[in-house]
Amino acid sequence: MKKFYVTTPIYYPSGEAHLGHCYSTVAADAIARFNRMRGHDVMFLTGTDEHGQKIETNAIKEGMKPKEYVDKIVEKFLNLWKILGISYDKFIRTTDDYHVRSVQKVFKILYDKGEIYKGKYEGWYCVPCESFFSHTRLVSGKCPDCGRDVKFQSEEAYFFKLSKYSERILQFYRNNPDFIEPESRKNEMIKFVESGLEDLCVSRTSFKWGVPVDFDPDHVVYVWIDALTNYITALGFGSENLVSFDKFWPADVHIVGKEIVRFHAIIWPAILMALDLPLPKKIYGHGWLLFGDGNKMSKSRGNVVDPVVLCKRYGTDAVRYFLLREIPFGADGTFSNLSLIERINFDLANDLGNLLSRTVSLAIKGFGGSDADCREINLAGEYESSQEDERLIQKAISLCKLYENDFENFEFSSALSKVWSLISDCNKYLDNAAPWKYMTDENEKAKFSNVLYNVFESLRIISILISPVMPETAIKIQEQIGAKSEICTWQNASNWGLLAFNSKIKKMEAIFLRIDCEKELDDLESVTQKNDNMDFISIKDFSKIDLRVGRVVGCEVVKNSKKILKLTIFDGECDREVVSGIAQRYTPEELIGRNVILVANLKPAKLCGINSNGMILASSGKNVNLIFTDLSEPGERIS
Ligand code: MSP
Repeated sequence: MKKFYVTTPIYYPSGEAHLGHCYSTVAADAIARFNRMRGHDVMFLTGTDEHGQKIETNAIKEGMKPKEYVDKIVEKFLNLWKILGISYDKFIRTTDDYHVRSVQKVFKILYDKGEIYKGKYEGWYCVPCESFFSHTRLVSGKCPDCGRDVKFQSEEAYFFKLSKYSERILQFYRNNPDFIEPESRKNEMIKFVESGLEDLCVSRTSFKWGVPVDFDPDHVVYVWIDALTNYITALGFGSENLVSFDKFWPADVHIVGKEIVRFHAIIWPAILMALDLPLPKKIYGHGWLLFGDGNKMSKSRGNVVDPVVLCKRYGTDAVRYFLLREIPFGADGTFSNLSLIERINFDLANDLGNLLSRTVSLAIKGFGGSDADCREINLAGEYESSQEDERLIQKAISLCKLYENDFENFEFSSALSKVWSLISDCNKYLDNAAPWKYMTDENEKAKFSNVLYNVFESLRIISILISPVMPETAIKIQEQIGAKSEICTWQNASNWGLLAFNSKIKKMEAIFLRIDCEKELDDLESVTQKNDNMDFISIKDFSKIDLRVGRVVGCEVVKNSKKILKLTIFDGECDREVVSGIAQRYTPEELIGRNVILVANLKPAKLCGINSNGMILASSGKNVNLIFTDLSEPGERIS
């Protein structure tokens, strides 16, 4: 059995997992599922990269120990992978004991072989930023990040002899032209190596949260040796048990984002060469998911990018489909809720969902009973295939090879668009054949059965092909068309005529529901506004609000309204009328004489026929609670 080893990058648990992280992981998951389906022995590895100064600093800010801090975030990653149906075989954490021990071993081997040496890490150090900068990076002699003074410092550190590997790496690229993909990234790497490599600093003494160098404990292993080696320590390298390592190494593909291709295509091969280990077969550097305004990460108004929220609203398979269909894998592309909703409405609900539900309904109606939800049908019948039948059948059985080719090249979007072309042909085929016109005509039963059978068989093949990307949907389709699992294997994706004539057809709820786009975008806007803590206002904006203490000097219930009170408020200068929806919470007697906070410069408005000149502040949780300032005097400003 052929083995297949696929990895994702290991993620920094330094903040919430976001849709960008899901991108690498969903792709790697689809690759893993695709290869399992083809009968390969798959190892799919993902995990978290938990050491380093940034995590140490974040933990301190939260008043936590680094391990406690990462434990909390890793749990969220694990939960997200569960929601997204990520079928990893192993999850590695760089804080796992076995990994720590193996990293120490790797470091020692490299040191003993003379591949790592002790030297000086020198540069301009910014104390608040805890960072070194070369002279050229300084801005007017100051820290380029915070603008403060820097001082020249020299720190003892270990270095890996990366520079000596330039020629070997270039030679490796020449001998293995498919090592880095897509092509554009390969060209970048060649240029980078050709411009000359410097030795790489691989230890630090300025922070503690890392794997200690066991023979020199003032040092911790600096991030890339710790992180990159996860791909081999997860298989047992550096421990006693090398069974998995012998079986799965070298990796068939490391899936990584484009900004970390350099580490995987240059540093990682050099480390492996120094360890005398085989190199991975491929580094695939995918593009970035951009959010609205062209930024990799930033949230923009109206765009929910929290993957948990998206999966809850639209379903996991819709999100997975979108990620792999919308943007060719190697390129950058923009995420927007609108494009996601359109994909759901057009591709999933209209094209696929509708094809399934109308064919199932036709079958059930055609074989008696309009409201039966589960029916054994009989599609047997002598019928000579027409040209249209043959065309559809040929397209369906030849799809598998084309799809396989695209998937092997990580061209998920193209693979899926080919499946959707068959879906579209099925819809047209059904429209042209119009079986609803003769479904009750006993003389046309064979013709009717033939049309339905062809669409059901196409749907069976479609379900197999989409299963790496949309595993839940694939099962739902198979359940509805009564296709047993034995006929839904990869090998059977290019065979025709396997669905039993007397299949049990089941009408179930729609696999995808159409979304009311306008309404949904409005709803999302309010969700993001609530979540979007990036939407700051300046102190100048805040000072535009005239907040003052006001004393309630009069109050009455408004006739014909259960909710509204009319208050007379003395604002320090004069009385004004303010209408407020608090009648169910307060009686006029409870309020008269109390001091409240008044928004004094709110534009006057007419509410329930009464002029309201301002607003009073209240918290609005389970109960509405006015904010009282009884110790202050009317007219005092609140700032
Ligand atoms: N810890 C390192 C990787 C070490 S691998 C030995 C790291 N972690 S990360 O959490 O910052 O990023 C992990 C992956 O998420 C990268 O491949 C990165 O490209 C990907 N993405 C993060 N944001 C992304 C987008 N907005 N779009 C697509 N992928 C993005 O780097």
